[in-house]
Amino acid sequence: MGQVFSSRRPPLPPQKIEAAGSSSDTLPEDIPWSTSSALDGLLTLTKAKGHYWYPNDGSRILDACGGAGVACIGHGRKEIIKAATNQMKECSYVSYAHFKTNAVQELSDWLIESTGGAMQKVYLMSSGSEAVEAALKLSREYHTWRGEPQRVNFISRSESYHGTTLGSLSASGHHTRRAPFSPLLSPTNFHKIPPCNPYRQPSSSPSEFLAARIAELESEFQRLGPDTVAAVLVEPIVGAALGCVPPVPHYLSALRSVCHRHGALLIFDEVMCGMSRAGTLHAWQSYNAVPDLQTIAKGFAGGYCPASALLVGSKIASLMTAEGKTFTHGHTYQNHPVVAAVALRVQKVIQEEGLLRNVQVQGRLLERLLTERLGGHRHVGDIRGKGLFWGVEFVKDRETKEPFEVEKQVAMRVFRCAMKSHGVLVYAGQGCAGEGKGDHIMVMPAYDVTSREVGKMVERIAAAVEEVLGR
Ligand SMILES: Cc1ncc(COP(=O)(O)O)c(C=O)c1O
Repeated sequence: MGQVFSSRRPPLPPQKIEAAGSSSDTLPEDIPWSTSSALDGLLTLTKAKGHYWYPNDGSRILDACGGAGVACIGHGRKEIIKAATNQMKECSYVSYAHFKTNAVQELSDWLIESTGGAMQKVYLMSSGSEAVEAALKLSREYHTWRGEPQRVNFISRSESYHGTTLGSLSASGHHTRRAPFSPLLSPTNFHKIPPCNPYRQPSSSPSEFLAARIAELESEFQRLGPDTVAAVLVEPIVGAALGCVPPVPHYLSALRSVCHRHGALLIFDEVMCGMSRAGTLHAWQSYNAVPDLQTIAKGFAGGYCPASALLVGSKIASLMTAEGKTFTHGHTYQNHPVVAAVALRVQKVIQEEGLLRNVQVQGRLLERLLTERLGGHRHVGDIRGKGLFWGVEFVKDRETKEPFEVEKQVAMRVFRCAMKSHGVLVYAGQGCAGEGKGDHIMVMPAYDVTSREVGKMVERIAAAVEEVLGR
């Protein structure tokens, strides 16, 4: 998916951000970009090395977001190239229906162990959307095995992004990404509750805030009929749709209690926030809440190949084993041996080099520097995140939290200015204030980022924010 979530449009002419009222808020010439897979209009990338991108206009761009939160150990690592080549020599492809391979077995064993056995089965796929789609379908099929075919409803949140396929997009709340397809997205089976976003949901106390969020879920169960709900799907830390918003304490475990009381499953979509991005290998490990199903992708193979997985919790897996049930689902490239070899090697590099610890240490530095440099800016409403997963939300007015007008494309302008004038790549998004409004950028450096690079990123990002929005 591209950086900002509207349909393709011609490049904006250089213009002023009226609300900023600064003397230097004229944008430099636009950088072309595309939200589709069409290639026209984009710069050609001739090289990516370490933490830098090298497009064909001669620039060298510091990567502060791993593309879409993917390139987590930098580019061009020889050990990963070797793992891919060795696997290709041994077996470059096999249908998951015909044989298993050592590569997939080793990766599955490693993943299951990484969850302390909470997850018991692994389906290896290519994209996050595929993993989410599979999670929705397996939830449904699980209930049919248990003799509860009436469980046809899914509950997710209004500001969320779970993927681009019709099922995963039906579960997503992201206004702009849904808009062109809304007649095709099932309103019958997919239902939304509000997000968990303390910045935009006023409350008199943390306990009142938590109680309100849980009451919203409970009332949705009651509205639908508790025994019709198959699963609740949430991102533990909301990525593209909200800009790195972590849950409040006890929120995820309270969701789990409500789901289980009503016989529904809990799915955590960790496509963006998982695989060490937020300072623990699995995001749920920070929150004492184990899901029934979990999706992973992005940092899983660090971008060295397309890799995602559905992890199946012990409750579902043990029923499958005990009753010999198989999931009616499969892709041509499922359990791809090269994907498995590469993903496992990426995870081993993260382990061998102690990069999870680096995520925690550099994450604290990133938080401190972003707060020092941008926390007082009159158009920065909120800075939030965890590990190396940080979002900066822009507002027109800090007091009222009023967002900028959508057409001003503020996050997009910061992104362009950062890339063109300050040589740093960030991930821009819109919709964090609800109904497509609200601008944010996401900062998601590689796990092997150095303190010096973190400092450089924040300086360059802050300079871009000031150039676009004034001081
Ligand atoms: C939380 C989440 N789920 C699912 C997806 C879809 O993944 P993909 O783009 O690999 O299909 C994304 C993509 O950004 C995501 O952030």
